[in-house]
Amino acid sequence: MTTVLRSNNNYNQSNHLIILSYQNQRTWFASLLTETEQKIVQKAMDKGTKQLILPQLERFIIIELIEAVDNRPDLEEKTRCIAAKTVASLRKHHLEEAVLLDYTKDNLSASYAEGIVLANYQFLKYFKEKDTLKSSFHTLHLLTQFIPSNEVALLNTLFEGVCAARDLVNEPLSYLTAVQLSEEIKRLGKAANFSVNVLDKAAIEALKMGGLLAVNKGSLDPPTFSILEWKPAQTVNKKPIVLVGKGVVYDTGGLSLKPTANSMDFMKCDMAGAAGVIGAMYAVAKAALPVHLICLVPSTDNRPGLNAYAPGDVVTMYSGSTVEVLNTDAEGRMLLADALHYAKQYDPELVIDMATLTGSAAHALGSQGAVFMGTASHQTKKALSRAGIKTQERLVEFPLWKEYAEQLKSDVADLKNLGGPMAGAITAGKFLEHFTAYDWLHIDMAGPAYLHHEDAYRTKGGTGYGVQLIYHFLLDYTT
Ligand code: BES
Ligand code: MN
Ligand code: ZN
Repeated sequence: MTTVLRSNNNYNQSNHLIILSYQNQRTWFASLLTETEQKIVQKAMDKGTKQLILPQLERFIIIELIEAVDNRPDLEEKTRCIAAKTVASLRKHHLEEAVLLDYTKDNLSASYAEGIVLANYQFLKYFKEKDTLKSSFHTLHLLTQFIPSNEVALLNTLFEGVCAARDLVNEPLSYLTAVQLSEEIKRLGKAANFSVNVLDKAAIEALKMGGLLAVNKGSLDPPTFSILEWKPAQTVNKKPIVLVGKGVVYDTGGLSLKPTANSMDFMKCDMAGAAGVIGAMYAVAKAALPVHLICLVPSTDNRPGLNAYAPGDVVTMYSGSTVEVLNTDAEGRMLLADALHYAKQYDPELVIDMATLTGSAAHALGSQGAVFMGTASHQTKKALSRAGIKTQERLVEFPLWKEYAEQLKSDVADLKNLGGPMAGAITAGKFLEHFTAYDWLHIDMAGPAYLHHEDAYRTKGGTGYGVQLIYHFLLDYTT
C-alpha cells in the first residue's frame, strides 16, 4: 500500500490542509483564511468551482467543494471520486502529507480517505526507475474530531487488503504461479494472523480432485489448494462461513485456445476471485472480526501443454460426479466444483464463491458490477446486495431456474462443462450448484475484476473487487 492513514489530535501551521466542504458552506472560513482569501474562495464558490488550491506561506490549502446528494451511498461514492481528483493535485505539487478537515458534518472522512488511498495505489515492482515514478504522497492525517482513531486503524487494514488483492491480480504469471500464490497467502497469513495449509500436487492427487488436476494437466507447474482459516475465541457463528476463490493464475483457454488480443492478454486476472477472498480474509483477521471464516483457493494455470485435457474428455471430479469436457476454456468451474465439494466437510453455515468465471457476466454488466446467484436465503442475498451498494461493489442477481440445467446434460457423463450459446453466466452457476449442498452464493466478477482504463479511484489493472464487499458483509453479519 502506497498511502497510510494516520490518526492525529491536532495539526500545525505548516501542515498542508485538505478541506472538504459543501458549496457555499462558510463555517470554516474565519478560522483558516485571511480576508482576501475568503473573498477569493467565495468568488470561486459563486462561480461553481469544485476545487481550489490556495498556496499560503508555508503550505497549500486544497479546498474540495462537494455538491450535496440526498442518498448516502451516492454521496460516499462522489466523495471517493473527488478524492481521486485530489490525488492528481497532490502528486502535481509533490506533496507528501496532508491533513483532512471534513467540514461537511456528514462524516465523509472514511470515504474520502478511501478515494485517496485507492487512487494513489501504484504497482511499480517491474519498473527500473521505480523511485522516480513513485507518488510523492504517502500519508493522510485524519483528525480525531472527525473520525475516531480505532476506525482509522480499521480503514488501513481494509485498504491493505484491497491493495494486496490488486497486487496479486497485477502480478503476471512469470512471477505468480500457483505455488507462488500459495506463498503469498502464507505471507499474508503471517501478517494478519490467520492459519494457512497448502495442499501440494501429491496431496491433491491423493484426494482425487479430478477437476483441478484436469485443468492442470497441460501445465508444467504444479497446482495448489490453499486452505485459510480464521477462528478467534469468540465467534457469532457456530458453523463456519466458507469463501472459495477461483485461482486460475493464467487462462490461455487450454486447447480451446483464446485469441491473444483483448482476451488472453489480460488473463493474469483470472485469479481475481482468489485475490478477493484472500484480501477479505486478511482484513477480517487483522480486524479480528468475531467470525469463524475459512477460505479455499484451488489454483493452477490453464495451458495447452502436451498432456493437456482435451474437449471430449470425461473427468471424474472430487465429488465422484463425472464431467464431459466440451470446452477446456470453461476451466474455472472444474476447479471451483472440487473446492465446493471440499467445503461440505465443514458443514458450513454459508459458502460464497467469487470467480472471474464467464465473459457472459462481463457482457451483461461491464465493469460496473458483478452478477450473483445462489441457493442462500432471500435475507442473506439482501445482506450481500446491501454490502454491494455500501461499498460500490454492486451486484445484480441472476436466476438459477431449473430449466437452465437441461443445457448441461451430457450423452456420456453426469454433466458437461459447457452450456448453450445463451445465458452463459447462469449455466456456469448451474454447473457449480451441482456440487453444493448448503446455503450458497456465487459471485461472477469477470466484469469489475480488472480495468483496461482507470476509473476514478479504481486504478487500471486489478481493482481488488470483492474485498470490501465481503468484509462489509461479514462486519454486518457480526453486529
Ligand atoms: N476466465 C474466463 C472468463 C473471463 C472473461 C474472465 C473475461 C475475465 C474476463 C473463463 O475461464 C472463460 O474462459 N469462460 C468462457 C466459458 C465458456 C467457454 C463456456 C467464456 O465466458 O467465454
Ligand atoms: Mn477460461
Ligand atoms: Zn478462466
